[in-house]
Amino acid sequence: MRQHFDQLLVSPKPFVKWAGGKRQLIPVLKENLPDSMGTYFEPFLGGGALLFHILMKRSSQRCRISDLNSDLVLAYTTIRDKASDVIISLKNHSKNYQKNSKSYYYSIRDSNPRSDIEKTSRLIFLNRTCFNGLYRVNKKGKFNVPLGRYSNPNIVNEENILAVSQVLQSRLVSIQCQDFEAVLDYAKKNDLVYFDPPYQPVSETSNFTSYTNKSFTYDDLKRLTQLCLKLDSKGCKVMLSNSNSKEVSDMFTEKQWKLKKITANRSINSNSKKRTGHFELLIKNF
Ligand SMILES: C[S@@+](CC[C@H](N)C(=O)[O-])C[C@H]1O[C@@H](n2cnc3c(N)ncnc32)[C@H](O)[C@@H]1O
Repeated sequence: MRQHFDQLLVSPKPFVKWAGGKRQLIPVLKENLPDSMGTYFEPFLGGGALLFHILMKRSSQRCRISDLNSDLVLAYTTIRDKASDVIISLKNHSKNYQKNSKSYYYSIRDSNPRSDIEKTSRLIFLNRTCFNGLYRVNKKGKFNVPLGRYSNPNIVNEENILAVSQVLQSRLVSIQCQDFEAVLDYAKKNDLVYFDPPYQPVSETSNFTSYTNKSFTYDDLKRLTQLCLKLDSKGCKVMLSNSNSKEVSDMFTEKQWKLKKITANRSINSNSKKRTGHFELLIKNF
């Protein structure tokens, strides 16, 4: 069945800024997509930059997207199902923020709303107004980023939320909160699985903590490598982004893996001098 997104006012884009987000890398990633694929899997969804690009180019694409961050997955499903309510709630945040940004920010950061709509608008509000616009939680899973310095943050991007909602309503898109390894139960020959995990640190000090209250360990990377091999032997197309680190390249030595160094611009780094171009790896079996 063909889906039509023609009536969208804008092309949907990530509704949150996410550490490791792939928006700036879309020109390179799109060159590396296969001409055809079965289902598109994105098990480390984050802001979903590549997902939205794919949905705009291939409106009848079947997609199975997931992430382990339950707050983030809830935001996707709530925007899909209740976009207008999320917008109303965000407008309310925006109005209150303008009255006293500091005290309002910290009151919302400390709050623990019950409803899905309030949880979602809290996540977007904090993401828009916090320092560096990143999502980071401590070991107890509590959002711990301080207030950012913005004179007029764009808290309610109404058109984008409506566009995101509309594309997610497609019956061909399914959204889950789960560990990345679950893709093995669903992916079949000719499906594309794009892995964009939390990156292996290139140095001891470069580790970013953390999208969820569990960090991504070296054992997780080994688990991911094994999974890539299993998917490869099932005939799936596999593409993986990671840091240009020896730990990563040493795990993908078998001949089916093509390793490309690509230039990336890391936009989330607390030190603005480190937000410069650097290499990262794109690994594929097709
Ligand atoms: C580098 S980000 C993905 C960025 C995304 N490609 C974008 O464009 O915004 C990595 C994501 O992996 C998720 N994650 C961490 N551990 C996971 C796991 N074990 N299984 C599934 N997702 C996980 C994090 O919550 C985070 O959203």
